[in-house]
Amino acid sequence: MKILMVCLGNICRSPLAEGIMKSKAPENFFIDSAGTISMHEGKHPDQRAIQTASRHGIDISQQRSRPITQADFENFDKIYCMDVDVLADVVSKARNEDQRKKVSLFLEVLGDHQNAEVPDPYWGDMKEFEEVFQLLDRGCEAILKQII
Ligand code: 4NP
Repeated sequence: MKILMVCLGNICRSPLAEGIMKSKAPENFFIDSAGTISMHEGKHPDQRAIQTASRHGIDISQQRSRPITQADFENFDKIYCMDVDVLADVVSKARNEDQRKKVSLFLEVLGDHQNAEVPDPYWGDMKEFEEVFQLLDRGCEAILKQII
């Protein structure tokens, strides 16, 4: 199973989602993350994301931001988007129904469609990053229960 986590910049939410999912998923799973913008391409995750993960024993410091590519729609089985804007952007890049079917909102699995977005912590502080971590942790657990 190949899973891609996607947010806007690929420096806050999706790197955390990648790190958390890697820490929980079976060894034969391949997990990666990407952004819908290339503004931060090549950069390591935001220091606050690195610190938050580190507090939970997860090292995301070696990740590098990259934008989503057409090849990702071929290579991955599931593409999870952190909010509705990211979802719309990613769905618009899919080339056919098969590719579109791979794309969903990350938090949809928790069943609460009203609150199915992972809030962007970029303009927040460490408290927001910790809240995002907890949300991502719950989401990853639920996704694994659903697909294993
Ligand atoms: P992310 O957070 O999508 O969770 O990585 C953001 C990172 C950068 C920006 C916005 C959100 N930005 O505007 O540069």
